[in-house]
Amino acid sequence: MKTAPDRVHPLWDEFCRHLNSVSSLVELSDLKDKYLGRKRGLISLELRKLGALSPQERPAAGHELNELKKRVEKLLSQRTGEFKEKERLRKLEMEGIDVTLPGYAFAPSAIHPLRRVWKEMEEIFVRMGFAVVSGPEVESDYYNFEALNIPKGHPARDDQDTLYLSENLVLRTHTSPVQIRTMENQKPPIRIIVPGRVYRRDAVDATHTPMFHQIEGLLVDEGISLADLKGTLEVFFKVLFSPDTRVRLRPSYFPFVEPGAELDISCIFCAGGGCRVCKKSGWIEILGAGMVHPRILERVGYDPEKYTGFAWGMGIDRIALLKYQVNDLRLFFENDVRFLRQF
Ligand code: PHE
Repeated sequence: MKTAPDRVHPLWDEFCRHLNSVSSLVELSDLKDKYLGRKRGLISLELRKLGALSPQERPAAGHELNELKKRVEKLLSQRTGEFKEKERLRKLEMEGIDVTLPGYAFAPSAIHPLRRVWKEMEEIFVRMGFAVVSGPEVESDYYNFEALNIPKGHPARDDQDTLYLSENLVLRTHTSPVQIRTMENQKPPIRIIVPGRVYRRDAVDATHTPMFHQIEGLLVDEGISLADLKGTLEVFFKVLFSPDTRVRLRPSYFPFVEPGAELDISCIFCAGGGCRVCKKSGWIEILGAGMVHPRILERVGYDPEKYTGFAWGMGIDRIALLKYQVNDLRLFFENDVRFLRQF
């Protein structure tokens, strides 16, 4: 069946004009409805009218309408594709990453200054052959006091404002209880250090915080003397501060050592000449120490005729203050990054 090939239905031009003004997928779908909608679509209506034509007219008109329908469908789907592609590109562009933007700066984490000195001190002793041990921070009255020759009512208890958890439980006021715990479980020779947190009921100021850190030292063997104590700590401070650091012992009293002493180091700021830090004395008081009391050796089952030993307890925080020339202990605990970044 032949039809005039170039006769185009008048709806075609109208459709083309409409199509050109369409600017979105929604409008496009409206347009599709308007022409191809089953019930009220313009082309559908035309198709329905075919039935009223004469059998002679019907084929040509039908063919013409079908052609129109096909072309309209083709153009609509083509345009739909175009809109979808445009939309995809637009989304891609919005999600795009600008690789030229500067990145976020993440501050690298660092070791807290207190922990740094702690480790540094620990390492020096480890190189000298000391083993690192620890003990409980919640301690019994027995280990914190009694076993260290500090019975209830002893004036030495008043030196350490204790945080009691119950009648017989305390937050340890020093690392010395670990001396007892270690000796109870090991035979001499003993060569340990005990770094850790200790607690005292102190009011907070530039040199006091209710929690601070100590490194306890304990060495027990045959023939150990005060000279060994002095020599060990002298080497330690020469490595920690500088080779010309000197140490001196002054008699002092701690119930668990006999004799007891305090150890001073020559001022690391004025080398002993006298300055503000050492209050013109040339010396800085740094730790308590002494020879382990024979009664304590006996109590843990060591023969005090055969074995002697020395012990010390020193504050890590205090040494950090000196080492970093910080004048207020509180700065170490406030965790202000502006302070911490300096280390
Ligand atoms: N435990 C004592 C204190 O905290 C220090 C010390 C330890 C003294 C060992 C002598 C021997 O003050």
